[in-house]
Amino acid sequence: MAFIELEDVVFSYPNGVTAVDGVSFSVEEGESVAIVGQNGAGKTTTVKMINGLLRPSSGRAVVNGIATTDRTAAATARDVGYVFQNPDDQIFNSTAFAEIEYGLKRQKIDADAARQRVEAAAEICGIRADLETNPYDLPLSIRKFVTIASVIAADTKVVILDEPTAGQDLVGLNRIAGIIGHLQQQGKIVITITHDMEFVAEHFQRVIVMANKRVVVDDLQGSVFRNPDVMREARLTPPVIAQALDRLGLDDVPLHVEEIAKRLAG
Ligand SMILES: Nc1ncnc2c1ncn2[C@@H]1O[C@H](COP(=O)(O)OP(=O)(O)OP(=O)(O)O)[C@@H](O)[C@H]1O
Ligand SMILES: [Mg+2]
Repeated sequence: MAFIELEDVVFSYPNGVTAVDGVSFSVEEGESVAIVGQNGAGKTTTVKMINGLLRPSSGRAVVNGIATTDRTAAATARDVGYVFQNPDDQIFNSTAFAEIEYGLKRQKIDADAARQRVEAAAEICGIRADLETNPYDLPLSIRKFVTIASVIAADTKVVILDEPTAGQDLVGLNRIAGIIGHLQQQGKIVITITHDMEFVAEHFQRVIVMANKRVVVDDLQGSVFRNPDVMREARLTPPVIAQALDRLGLDDVPLHVEEIAKRLAG
């Protein structure tokens, strides 16, 4: 059984809005996946069911062999860290240090070990110098790194990043790429929601496209980005590199600058 299994999950909010309507996919240990799709497609709702913040109205979300309905949200969250789309929904401590340390304290990890983990996570996220600052005195783009560091410090098997690329400049994007690479090296499952198709082309092989509360396609990036029907349905613009290859009629070339340069040179 895969580490994450969504089986025909449906979720309706208390106001009656059905946000996810029959989604199934699984993610194996060590796998990385990007989830993309138009606003309101149901991406955030879907991943919140993986980390236990939300429970399916019907269907099953099974994590580490246990349905999320058979354990507490806190227990599921020990397997699955979730970085909120909006950092302000996540942050409630008055220093970045306290924010990152919070989960560790709750796990009763001793103060020295906790400090080390906070500092290591802050280092990876490039916010060592900001640890004593109130997160709300930091720009939103940096606050996002505080929330990512909190999840990294918790050392969960799965890390879900909800729109980490939103509002980031090139330095921020590179930093996020570095964090994802670091987590992958550690054998984590990394699930990233993003609207940045260039970022997906560069960093993710597997792509799940959502539209209208469902998964439209779940495949390798080469197939996803070069399928005009899927792109249209999900209202996505393929990465420039995919558009260029289509125009050149190069159907079998991977979406990587190096590969393309090799092919064109050869
Ligand atoms: N707390 C809520 N109460 C009621 N409806 C909600 C709530 N949160 C989201 N929705 C609705 O559920 C649907 C799916 O929302 P969701 O946030 O999962 O989409 P998304 O794909 O993450 O979108 P975005 O790209 O804008 O973040 C939308 O119609 C949204 O308006
Ligand atoms: Mg969302």
